[in-house]
Amino acid sequence: MKTCVIIVAAGSGERIGGNIPKQYLKISDRSILEHTISAFEISKSIDEIVIAINPDHHQFYKNIKSNKKIYFINGGSTRQESVKNALEFLENKSPEKVLIHDAARPFINSDIIEQIVLELDTHKAVELVSKCVDTVEYDGNYIDRNRLRFAQTPQGFEFKTILKLHRDNTEVQYTDDISLTKKEAIKVKSIIGNRSNFKITTIDDFELATTLIDRNYMIRTGFGYDVHQIELKKHSKIYLGGVEMDSDYKIIAHSDGDVVIHAVVDAILGALSLGDIGHYFPPSEQKWKGASSSIFLSKCTELLRENSAFINNIDVSIVAESPKIKPHIDSMKLRLAEILEITQNQVGIKATTSENLGFIGRKEGVAAHAVATIRIKQGYL
Ligand code: CTP
Ligand code: MG
Repeated sequence: MKTCVIIVAAGSGERIGGNIPKQYLKISDRSILEHTISAFEISKSIDEIVIAINPDHHQFYKNIKSNKKIYFINGGSTRQESVKNALEFLENKSPEKVLIHDAARPFINSDIIEQIVLELDTHKAVELVSKCVDTVEYDGNYIDRNRLRFAQTPQGFEFKTILKLHRDNTEVQYTDDISLTKKEAIKVKSIIGNRSNFKITTIDDFELATTLIDRNYMIRTGFGYDVHQIELKKHSKIYLGGVEMDSDYKIIAHSDGDVVIHAVVDAILGALSLGDIGHYFPPSEQKWKGASSSIFLSKCTELLRENSAFINNIDVSIVAESPKIKPHIDSMKLRLAEILEITQNQVGIKATTSENLGFIGRKEGVAAHAVATIRIKQGYL
């Protein structure tokens, strides 16, 4: 029996404010929408995922991937329209059951998902509610809180029932889908969920969500060092931090000899406990001859993602007598931030000379030291 989930993510998040729609705000390594998707990805009873998006948000959802079949479809100007568009899209995929869930509820757990899907064997509609714990006053009167229920999502439905309800009820706009069953004689099964499955609506909800998600991550640090030989050659071009610069010395190396990137790569690999740069890009392999070191750094971005980790900050110290590094620092920060998909203020770059001492002082080599601090989900590695 085929079961799909519709995740509605086409809203603009007006109540939370800001420039980025709330479902795309990042918490730890990924957006709220991606946290939400992951609960359905690990759920064994969900076959396919449909996400109602606003095409204007393309820059925010374009990189979302899933190990399940995932469709992005255009939502509408209200939540109800977004759901209807997704249901219409699903019609020719013929699911028997459908769950409808708000993107803004990332704390849904797979036990509840399984429970709802199971109840749909014997019910046409399943609601998930939480109880009221506060005293409630309405126009000066107190209401018996024991009779109050707060509607959550996901809500589950027999597919053809909810499709018909949406087609027949387009005049009034409801804020959830169970509301559409109320006029009909459809028996709704109620499941009591918990309050942790709250909808991120305001900025303090976002702060609470950040605290809850962040506690699953731990901090790790890695260190990297690299050195390359240089030799006098006027009007050379060298690469440091992914930036090409003029130099009177050329770097002797198998790849482009970018010691900054090599040190940063080793720092990140160290923090991930995943070996070193030579393990992924052996100098013995001909294909890395003259290679742009940005390829090595892009690999780190990929490994971080695969391991549910993200960079807190990186810090680099370059040790070189020549060329002058300072004029290139901003461009290096920009380039490293770009490849690592972080912001420039997460990158520190400093340079020093070796006071004419040692091999660096004699202009026989340049070196870079780097530290990377990452946050990684507990249980990974
Ligand atoms: N939603 C949607 N299409 C819309 C409006 C809302 O898909 N036209 C989605 C939201 O993205 C959200 C869910 O419906 O995941 C619940 O809506 P709500 O919390 O109200 O989100 P927003 O409408 O984005 O927020 P606000 O009401 O504060 O603008
Ligand atoms: Mg809304």
